[in-house]
Amino acid sequence: MRRIPLQQNGVLASRLILGCMAMGGERNIAPITMNDIKEARMIMNSALQIGINMFDHADIYKLGKAEQVFGSVLREIPSLRESIIIQSKCGIRPKEWTGLPFKRYDFAKEHILTSVDGILERLGIEYLDILLLHRPDPLMDPEEVAAAIQALKSSGKVRRFGVSNMSAGQIRLLQSYCDERFIVNQLEMSLQQIGWLEAGILVNHEAGKDLIFPEGTLEYCRLENIQLQAWGALAQGAYSGNAQRSEDHRVWKTAQYVRELSIQKETAAEAIVLAWLMKHPAGIQPIIGTSKPERIEACGQAIHISLTSDEWYGLYTSSRGGEVT
Ligand SMILES: NC(=O)c1ccc[n+]([C@@H]2O[C@H](COP(=O)([O-])OP(=O)(O)OC[C@H]3O[C@@H](n4cnc5c(N)ncnc54)[C@H](OP(=O)(O)O)[C@@H]3O)[C@@H](O)[C@H]2O)c1
Repeated sequence: MRRIPLQQNGVLASRLILGCMAMGGERNIAPITMNDIKEARMIMNSALQIGINMFDHADIYKLGKAEQVFGSVLREIPSLRESIIIQSKCGIRPKEWTGLPFKRYDFAKEHILTSVDGILERLGIEYLDILLLHRPDPLMDPEEVAAAIQALKSSGKVRRFGVSNMSAGQIRLLQSYCDERFIVNQLEMSLQQIGWLEAGILVNHEAGKDLIFPEGTLEYCRLENIQLQAWGALAQGAYSGNAQRSEDHRVWKTAQYVRELSIQKETAAEAIVLAWLMKHPAGIQPIIGTSKPERIEACGQAIHISLTSDEWYGLYTSSRGGEVT
């Protein structure tokens, strides 16, 4: 199988990543429960069983409770730590933590450093494999970010670094101050959120004027060997059983086509949705956010599925609601 950029960067990660945003029970400041831990154990085991060795966190998921329950399970199986890749993010400050009446971003050195201490404590681990800067802070001082990264690297608290929801220009700016290379950019990309493809095919076209995907970012990441990770990769199940939530006829038609392909190829609908994303030559790593063991297993089937280019274009055409211009 083709190696993904992360593997070329020396990180032997599985192609699929388990997103841990749903772990930890209710999003509140109440303590985690035994049931929350039990659920996390079940989700983690399902992921490990299908060969997933990479887990995506953020300090803010369930206000820290996602990392706490994950940490509780890790403590039960101490040998697990060394065989998995744990990624987390910082840089968003929810109002519950600041006392402000609004959420804000924060890339101040002090905030990055204290956030990582919090992440390590909740997860109960000595080091984080990868730290991502969650969302670009308009007030960021690249020199300060670089100093934080340097401090985290030399203390051994974080091994590798990346970003999330950033454009090529933002990564280049930050990178110009940092010796440590950014090896990941995590963005929303799926069969439903197709801006990442539209940005490429609607160059010099009127229809491209309202695109939301940052121009040139896909190409920049490929050039620089930065791993693209897709959040929302399952499109919240829109094409694999959850279409009823959408009033968009394109979603219905695409879900139907996904179903036809899944029957033809004797696989799960989730596998078709993810295989479509993975066929792109950028070597995208889908992050799956489901908490259901049967859906995790269904996602795992994607590794064994290959779509023809005609099938890929068929799904793309259906999702965008018309053939390419
Ligand atoms: N970097 C960022 O800014 C950012 C933002 C958002 C998320 N993320 C990361 O990406 C991961 C995945 O993101 P995501 O959870 O938004 O996207 P997702 O994987 O596309 O969607 C998962 C959600 O869809 C539901 N779902 C899936 N199939 C379904 C079906 N057939 N019927 C009903 N519900 C279905 C799941 O519920 P069940 O649990 O019931 O299956 C879950 O709530 C997160 O865990 C997180 O790690 C990163």
